[in-house]
Amino acid sequence: MSRSAVLCGLGSWLPPRCVTNDELAEELDTSDAWIRSRTGIGQRHVADASMATSDLAVEAGARALKSAQIGSVDAVILATATPDRLCPATAPGVTARLGLGRVPAFDVAAVCTGFLYALATAAGLIAAGTADRVLVIGADTFSRILDPADRSTRAIFGDGAGAAVLRAGQRHEPGALGAVQLGSDGSDEDLIRIPSGGSRDPFRAATAHEADPYFRMAGRAVFRRAVECMAESSRRALAGSGWAVGDVDRVVSHQANLRIMHALADQLVLDRERCAIHLDRVGNTSAASVPLALADAVAGGTVRPGHRLLLTAFGGGLTWGACTLRWPEVEPV
Ligand code: COA
Repeated sequence: MSRSAVLCGLGSWLPPRCVTNDELAEELDTSDAWIRSRTGIGQRHVADASMATSDLAVEAGARALKSAQIGSVDAVILATATPDRLCPATAPGVTARLGLGRVPAFDVAAVCTGFLYALATAAGLIAAGTADRVLVIGADTFSRILDPADRSTRAIFGDGAGAAVLRAGQRHEPGALGAVQLGSDGSDEDLIRIPSGGSRDPFRAATAHEADPYFRMAGRAVFRRAVECMAESSRRALAGSGWAVGDVDRVVSHQANLRIMHALADQLVLDRERCAIHLDRVGNTSAASVPLALADAVAGGTVRPGHRLLLTAFGGGLTWGACTLRWPEVEPV
């Protein structure tokens, strides 16, 4: 019988400092009313200057291992768009600090879809027999790459980390990942990007003109593509799992904008009440968004063992993905 990846641990961590919409409005031309009505966000967590993405990843990773009640894994995959450095990858350092030894460790770069790409990669390692247990972490510190003067991105993004442990198991067990569907469209890569600092426009060369080290996003176009791509991807994942839309108890989608989440539910013809909502308290935490929303929903009792879940995300690249999962007896830490 073929091996499936089964979720057996879930961890989350948020930096303690919280920034409310009113605090943002003290330094930017915005308001709590605008941010709440256009995005559904009320506050976001921001990492102290001394913390990097790896610090958040270690916290969430340790909690996921505790939730799974294990002390070792065969591989670590870290999804992030804000690595500690451009080189090397952040995952090996995280793995060493977690005391996980010399196992393979690598980063996955798919921005806000990163966690789903990492889950799919882990499931592939398990299915191939390369690993029996994989730690998957989604961690981002977007506060480090936002333009302090850009109200449209400052209002949306927050910092955080979430993690899951996958183990080898059987297809029909609770926690087994169902069909995983991923996609990309690089012809629209400019909709979400950091213009300078990579090999296209290294800072050295960029000194000749104006370097732009900040995260830029074409909000409206991204909004449209996010709804379209997550809906299509979700339909494919449901079809691949043999589920009807009506079978879904909770949609745990990327927490980008409440209006995007409602539009997605409308497109799928699914009750909006079935959307897990976490962004009101944390904003868009990029690769951490899906595991953080999942941990919050389980802790709050809106996701319970046996529930049929649809996970879906969309991000820069453009990238997107979806997968199904029947929630197992797992307590997030
Ligand atoms: N406070 C007040 N006004 C703001 C604002 C803020 N925080 N952010 C943007 N605005 C302004 C814009 O400057 C613009 O003003 P202008 O008309 O004078 O130029 C106006 O609001 C409308 O901008 P627009 O971008 O068309 O608004 P919108 O209704 O699309 O909302 C976003 C902006 C960014 C909230 C919305 O586009 C969005 O959420 N997009 C998806 C972003 C996302 O989730 N990205 C991550 C995906 S992985």
